[in-house]
Amino acid sequence: MNYENLLLDMHGKVALITLNRPQALNALSPQLTAELSALLDALEADDGVAAVVLTGSEKAFAAGADIKAMKDWSYMEVYKSDFITASWERLASFRKPSIAAVAGYALGGGCELAMMCDFIIAADSAKFGQPEITIGTIPGAGGTQRLTRFIGKAKAMDMVLTGRLMDAQEAERCGLVSRLVPADKLIDEALAAAGKIAQMSAPIAMMAKESVNRAFETPLAEGIRFERRLFHATFATEDQKEGMAAFVEKRRPDFKDR
Ligand code: CAA
Repeated sequence: MNYENLLLDMHGKVALITLNRPQALNALSPQLTAELSALLDALEADDGVAAVVLTGSEKAFAAGADIKAMKDWSYMEVYKSDFITASWERLASFRKPSIAAVAGYALGGGCELAMMCDFIIAADSAKFGQPEITIGTIPGAGGTQRLTRFIGKAKAMDMVLTGRLMDAQEAERCGLVSRLVPADKLIDEALAAAGKIAQMSAPIAMMAKESVNRAFETPLAEGIRFERRLFHATFATEDQKEGMAAFVEKRRPDFKDR
């Protein structure tokens, strides 16, 4: 498939997806999100892909949903097409590990897309924000929910109600991003992190991701029970046997993704 708004580069088993609509600061048009959804379907089905890095340009990871495209849509149009849920949420349900590598603006839907990844590595130039209120709407791709879970009520309310931007240093301090790096090291750092994950057993990494994500959806006791079931399930894999045998034999494990 040809993608007009995305670039795809394979680095071993890591797929680097670059949002590529520079003329609009990677504003997330319906076509772009449909392409992203289709690409994620393909990458999820491909055993040669172990992890994904999603990035944008130096100036903008993504400046949000495409305001020019949506400004005249009617209630019925957005309701019937289930605008946002339909293609955007594909990233949130992607089962393989995903890292957002953010430089420049990650605003509105751009911030929401980054938060759908498993973690965010930010360049020191990154700026996060949910400025929807300044254009007469509210976040619609999880911003009020994920941001609040990640950084707490006080900061989330501040961001969502004032529409102010948060710089990379503040984003790291309050736990929105996992690592902060110089802008020229961003892609290398993200690819190295994804490459490290790609050395693990793919199904075990998927189970680990699924279990962490459960923490956002269940009470603690339920989450612990869920984790315990998956932990037990790892003992049914060849990779658990290989991983523990390799430790005892003082060698590197040779995971077969089984
Ligand atoms: N949608 C459509 N086009 C956008 C865009 C967006 N979200 N953001 C930027 N662009 C376009 C601009 O219209 C401009 O195009 P033209 O040259 O054709 O006019 C081009 O990208 C460059 O943008 P600017 O000239 O504005 O660049 P700047 O450096 O002066 O400002 C910015 C950068 C602060 C990011 C500014 O572009 C901006 O505020 N963008 C909108 C941010 C925003 O409100 N995002 C939320 C969108 S709503 C949403 O995302 C809902 C949701 O929850 C899903």
